[in-house]
Amino acid sequence: MNHPKRHDGKLRLGVNIDHVATVRNARGSAWPDPLRAALLAETAGADGITAHLREDRRHIRNGDIEALMAALSVPLNFECAATAEMQAIALRHKPHAVCLVPEKREERTTEGGLDVAGDLARLTDFVAPLREAGCRVSMFISHDPRQIEASARIGAAVVELHTGLYSELHADGHQALAERELAALAEGAALAASLGLEVHAGHGLTYDNVEPVAAFPEVAELNIGHFLIGEAIFRGLGPAIEEMRRRMDLARGETA
Ligand code: PXP
Repeated sequence: MNHPKRHDGKLRLGVNIDHVATVRNARGSAWPDPLRAALLAETAGADGITAHLREDRRHIRNGDIEALMAALSVPLNFECAATAEMQAIALRHKPHAVCLVPEKREERTTEGGLDVAGDLARLTDFVAPLREAGCRVSMFISHDPRQIEASARIGAAVVELHTGLYSELHADGHQALAERELAALAEGAALAASLGLEVHAGHGLTYDNVEPVAAFPEVAELNIGHFLIGEAIFRGLGPAIEEMRRRMDLARGETA
């Protein structure tokens, strides 16, 4: 495949800390503290922290966003739905990046990509003030070329390609289908980069499936959460992140 826009910098790792908050909220206590996890992730080599403020506040809460904005030295990627409430919160905090995701109250996690092509006019208006405020706007989308082209048209700086289906197929042992999905993701990454978009990827990534995605030359950043927080139970958060970093570097042919 022709890779018109290789990402030149080192592949970044964004650590999603939502599920530290999930555990905290399960008991209604103050711990484990997502901010403490974020600071530890920074120390372990995370290049950014991602937090998803859901409409129902099932994990991250407004106070977590405030605490992260005040204390982080690495960029915050503020993940949210494209609603007026979330836009106001983003404009108040002006995080480094705002990643727009579809959100359904009943879903367990972000199940699909955002339909940018089907909501072009509204999303163009939605994104404009965020761009003016200096936020890098990212669209969490499938590898569908229509969605990638629409993201470029509305003025997004970044697309994050949804790796959830690839991850599921890989975990279920559907190797041929996983390869096909991976090829479609690779084509999506190349198309996005050729349109001048920065390319991120994430959802469902683990030690076992990260390397082929990390190897896409156009990908600048991976955002990984649930697996790392789970793995932290066994290894501790720092070592869990370091091992992911090692595998990402291996895939890029870089030594840590
Ligand atoms: N990127 C986006 C846009 C997401 O919504 C999520 C899940 O919140 C992730 C990355 C991380 O996915 P996971 O928790 O499965 O690693």
